[in-house]
Amino acid sequence: MPHPKLEFNRREVLLAGAGAALAGVLGLPPAAAAVSGRLTAKPGRVQLVGPSYPETEVWCYGGRVPGPELRVRQGGRLSVAFDNRLPQSSTVHWHGLRVPNAMDGVPELTQAPVAPGEVFAYEFDLPDAGTYWYHPHQGSVEQVGRGLYGPLIVEEPEPIRVDREVVWVLDDWRMTQEAAIVEDFDNFHDHTHSGRIGNTVTVNGAIPETFPVRAGERIRLRLINAANARFFALKFTGHAPRLIALDGQPCAPHELPGGRIVLGPAMRADLVLDLSGRPGERFAVVDDHYQRFAYRLLELAYEAGPPLRESPLDAPVALPANPLPAPELGTALRQRIVLGGGAMGGLASATFRGQTLGLREIAQEGKVWALNGIVADRIEMEPLVTLKRGRSAVIELVNETAFDHPMHLHGHSFRVLTRDGRPVPHGIWQDTVLVAPREKVEIAFVADNPGDWLFHCHILEHMAAGMMGVLRVG
Ligand code: C2O
Ligand code: CU
Repeated sequence: MPHPKLEFNRREVLLAGAGAALAGVLGLPPAAAAVSGRLTAKPGRVQLVGPSYPETEVWCYGGRVPGPELRVRQGGRLSVAFDNRLPQSSTVHWHGLRVPNAMDGVPELTQAPVAPGEVFAYEFDLPDAGTYWYHPHQGSVEQVGRGLYGPLIVEEPEPIRVDREVVWVLDDWRMTQEAAIVEDFDNFHDHTHSGRIGNTVTVNGAIPETFPVRAGERIRLRLINAANARFFALKFTGHAPRLIALDGQPCAPHELPGGRIVLGPAMRADLVLDLSGRPGERFAVVDDHYQRFAYRLLELAYEAGPPLRESPLDAPVALPANPLPAPELGTALRQRIVLGGGAMGGLASATFRGQTLGLREIAQEGKVWALNGIVADRIEMEPLVTLKRGRSAVIELVNETAFDHPMHLHGHSFRVLTRDGRPVPHGIWQDTVLVAPREKVEIAFVADNPGDWLFHCHILEHMAAGMMGVLRVG
């Protein structure tokens, strides 16, 4: 299945160099340092499920799902004129990028919502290389759920040597038998339980049977989970991919723990995949996150031709670190954020719009999740944590709910220090960290980006139902 990014580039985004989409691969020119263009969000029709089904009505960027791939060189600048032709107001959030607060795309908090028919100019520098993505931050359950998202790749000045670079944007849709999106975006059960889990998984907006590969080649595979709520746990049978970055941030290269890569919503992973099979062989890529519902995502299908090389490419796979400041643990401000509420969470009461109320009463308003006993409402954004600019922080996330939560901090990447008191190996930095039921996870970062930053669960239904707060850096 060829990745359609070249078409995105031609159609929608005025990339400064035509070769940009293939940059980073052996012998090809690097991505452009300055990329600018127009990004139009509007309703569209796309063939998501396959030729025997009708097209699906979606909302999307540039008429495609996923939206156009934006690819810029590290240290470069991105300027995007966001043109909203949706029937609702919207914004664009650049997930995982350390942008100035006014460019972060959070309605009410960092900018006014962009009304239908309006254009908003986003423009910012890209200090960090890595795999990122963009999506609306307004009415996210519906807008992301209808197909608004796209990949954003920031290339290292000297990328690691690979034969091919591939992006897989994973999504999950709740569809009818006629391949129409089920429009129950306010489904209360989804909001109180695991979120909007669908019934149709796509890779780059399609359901591919196979992914053609060549024996001996090395692929850098960039995975992006753009689903509202579905987790993926991918196993590459017969292969031993190495993880080289999580959420865009390099880590010490290592084989996947348990042989699988687990991606909660919004998470990304960069894998180095050496195609060690023989010509003509096939290997399944399996997703077994929900064990009773394990399925084959696709098959790696080896071409018949001779191997590209007989033994794996002998080249380093470690990525250079991004310029992230190291937190000072000794002097850091220590804070705890308790995740509470939801079905079977045992939370009796919480603060909502400044009042202490029973959770049942709050549920009347469609809200059921709390951070430190506060159920967020869009109109009330008093900071959960306030940090002096330049100060290091260690935040302990304590999950007192019955569900997993991928917790995302805007404007910063953080070190993941410990899980239940045990040090996390491989030097992991993330912007979205999974916290399992009853688990405690410590994260640390330097609060060097001034502004009010959203901190929330990236199961979009949990965010909509109150699981968010603000970290103020001033
Ligand atoms: Cu992917 Cu608050 O964002
Ligand atoms: Cu959650």
